[in-house]
Amino acid sequence: MDGTFENDINKIVDMDRAHVWHHLVQHKPFETGQPRIIVEGKGIHVWDQHGKKHLDAVSGGVWTVNVGYGRERIANAVRDQLIKLNYFAGSAGSIPGAIFSEMLIDKMPGMSRVYFTNSGSEANEKAFKMIRQIAHKRYGGKKNKILYRERDYHGSTIGAMSCGGQDERNAQYGPFSPDFVRVPHCMEYRRHEQEGAPEQNYGEWAAEQIEKVILAEGPETVGGLCLEPVTAGGGVITPPEGYWQKVQEICRKYDILLHIDEVVCGVGRTGTWFGYQHYGIEPDFVTMAKGVASGYAAIACCVTTERVFDMFKDDADDPMNYFRDISTFGGCTAGPAAAIENMHIIEEEGLLANTNAMGDYMLDQLRALQDKHAVIGDVRGKGLFLGAELVADRDSKQPVDEKLAQRVVAECNAQAVIIGVTNRSIPGRNNTLCYSPALIATKDDIDQIIAATDEALTRVFG
Ligand SMILES: Cc1ncc(COP(=O)(O)O)c(C=O)c1O
Repeated sequence: MDGTFENDINKIVDMDRAHVWHHLVQHKPFETGQPRIIVEGKGIHVWDQHGKKHLDAVSGGVWTVNVGYGRERIANAVRDQLIKLNYFAGSAGSIPGAIFSEMLIDKMPGMSRVYFTNSGSEANEKAFKMIRQIAHKRYGGKKNKILYRERDYHGSTIGAMSCGGQDERNAQYGPFSPDFVRVPHCMEYRRHEQEGAPEQNYGEWAAEQIEKVILAEGPETVGGLCLEPVTAGGGVITPPEGYWQKVQEICRKYDILLHIDEVVCGVGRTGTWFGYQHYGIEPDFVTMAKGVASGYAAIACCVTTERVFDMFKDDADDPMNYFRDISTFGGCTAGPAAAIENMHIIEEEGLLANTNAMGDYMLDQLRALQDKHAVIGDVRGKGLFLGAELVADRDSKQPVDEKLAQRVVAECNAQAVIIGVTNRSIPGRNNTLCYSPALIATKDDIDQIIAATDEALTRVFG
């Protein structure tokens, strides 16, 4: 890679500035400065419009490119499939769809049906619709409320935002859809902000707060509970000890369907195929997107059990008795074709084992940074999905001004390492540095990420 590109890159930058509306960023600075354009990627590295090489410690910015860039075998599989058959609506099956669903279900004991769609938001909407339809079919429309948790995120559509626990994301986009009900977060580091939170058995207590909401709403009105296994954009929140066991118990007790949003954690990110598999959970729905094909094609899945599936086919004479839903691009064959190769790569290259080993190593390295820099209040994560929360004061846990957290990211960037920070999620709480390198990351890569962070923290905080 020598920094020369096929197209005149300056023209590309001008076209971008003139016409592209970038996601989640302010555009005013582009009137004088340049937007970043990523031109090429290989392994864990990307090259920008200036030909500068960066170590991408965030897998494409948003926890996506799990197997790394430049995988010719995925590209070839997609190409071959597109030539054979690029598309047919999901009312029919496809060869890669059938093969991938079998491979996926093999990794998800207890689950049995895969509904293909094309974004995480949409996969979550499918689960919401299934829960609502079950409420109509089985409970006279009554058991239709869906619970979601403070700090969790489930997507950008109005439906998914109605289920969104991040107030800054949601601000100015309401009104939202009714009958989505919020439950408290389970972030042990900030338990002091929750009234009555105990020092001991916090996990069980946090789960009991969900039960309180269920009882207040009336269990006969609550159909589903939607949770991230490890909260991503809300602060990389690993669940406290005892939490999930109690959550599962509560769902069973009140006949509430448990929907696990694995859009970030799914397909290897945390060192197991799915995040929920760390905690012995038996979900009714699992949704996934980003890592399913590592961004080589758009694919998302809403996976459920045979028990749920059966509820949609028990009366073939009733024209309303099936899931009357379609996702046009859920019928694209590129998605499952890419996902099959993605899964083969993870297995053949032992990437789950690497994720565990490198994740543990990186967590240790972040803890060593915490010993050195008082501004790191907490370090959390699972596998190669890690966060470091920055605080102005360790005792009060007052978050740092988020502009300072953003400066740390910029200082890492200046050293050609791309890291992330929680972004526009919770007012005043966008203070957690985020790390999610590709699952192929080596010890050298992690050392580079840690060294850049160390230097950046020194530059910003002294
Ligand atoms: C946990 C979680 N769920 C759902 C989504 C939405 O996925 P998408 O952007 O593909 O709609 C995201 C996106 O970041 C996410 O982090």
